[in-house]
Amino acid sequence: MNSEKIEIFDTTLRDGEQVPGCKLNTEQKLIIAERLDKLGIDVIEAGFPVSSPGDFHSVSEISKLVRNAKVCGLTRANKKDIEVAAEALQYAKRPRIHTGIGTSDSHIKYKFNSTREDIIERAVDAVKYAKSFVEDVEFYAEDAGRTDNEYLARVCEAVIKAGATVLNIPDTTGYCLPEEYGQKIKYLKENVKGIDKAILSCHCHNDLGLATANSIAGVMNGARQIECTINGLGERAGNTALEEVVMILKQHKDLRLHTDVNSRMLNTMSSLVSDLMGMPVQPNKAIIGANAFAHSSGIHQDGVIKNRETYEIMNPEDVGVTESSIILTARSGRSALAYRFKHIGFDVTKNELDFLYGEFLKIADAKKEVDNDDLSLMMNALTRKIS
Ligand code: KIV
Ligand code: ZN
Repeated sequence: MNSEKIEIFDTTLRDGEQVPGCKLNTEQKLIIAERLDKLGIDVIEAGFPVSSPGDFHSVSEISKLVRNAKVCGLTRANKKDIEVAAEALQYAKRPRIHTGIGTSDSHIKYKFNSTREDIIERAVDAVKYAKSFVEDVEFYAEDAGRTDNEYLARVCEAVIKAGATVLNIPDTTGYCLPEEYGQKIKYLKENVKGIDKAILSCHCHNDLGLATANSIAGVMNGARQIECTINGLGERAGNTALEEVVMILKQHKDLRLHTDVNSRMLNTMSSLVSDLMGMPVQPNKAIIGANAFAHSSGIHQDGVIKNRETYEIMNPEDVGVTESSIILTARSGRSALAYRFKHIGFDVTKNELDFLYGEFLKIADAKKEVDNDDLSLMMNALTRKIS
């Protein structure tokens, strides 16, 4: 079955780093960039070079370090930003400038006090100028999610003519519904002249918890790049979570889309970013949360012990987790208890299990979770009873 590639554009070091309190120094950014390169990311957005000397330095050092991925720097649609980004990216093997401007009526009116025609002119000028430094120029239409499709198509057409290779369609405020975002991408695919010269990119924010769903709707309707971050970090409620889109495309072969990301590295990648940014991952976070492969109710545990596919839709090893865990709580049954005893080296008989299960329930009602130390104490109680 043939499958089309979706490029993964990681913006952990740019949009992800915009999280309050998540500031990274250059050394930490280099550690993350090197690991992202090994993970199989296609584009690493390394920063916003004009924003500070520190960010300029980081983008420049990342450009020297990264071997495989394209390295990208963000700019606004002005000459100074573009010149500074080009300078920071000068050592990159495959540099990309990511320039753009707000296209929704509220951005045009309140941010720029301008007109639709003027915005198109500024967008075209920015792309042409960026193109004088690098071949690969991505254009973002900020707040595209709330920009009307007909005007957005005109902007896209104009910037493709000016040389843009990628068109980023951000749902900057995380407002779109998946159906609506997917239709926007489809509309652009069908109505922008010259669209075959560029690829459409999804950049979705998670204000309504829809970033991943919107990105998937985007690629199902013709986009070929997803912008995302490790652990879904980013402004406000965050961006599309990289680990989620990678695993959705891996598990849903029916979509006939794939990425080149080595999913087995996702777990360690997530911990690295969480540790360096000081941002803990919520336990119930899809794919990489501590509970993503943990089963605690008796009914589920019994099913998983018999065959993991009863309650798991992916293999934990595929995301770098060695095995599913069976958590012992007051909701656990005998089979989970026997399984955990076996795990620590005790093959208990049916009669022994009957006794141990009574002891187990006493402890489980008093504690949130029964651990291996509790199991040892229970075995001691069993030995005392026998002798
Ligand atoms: O959310 C957004 O619109 C952005 C752009 C700057 C690409 O992050
Ligand atoms: Zn963003």
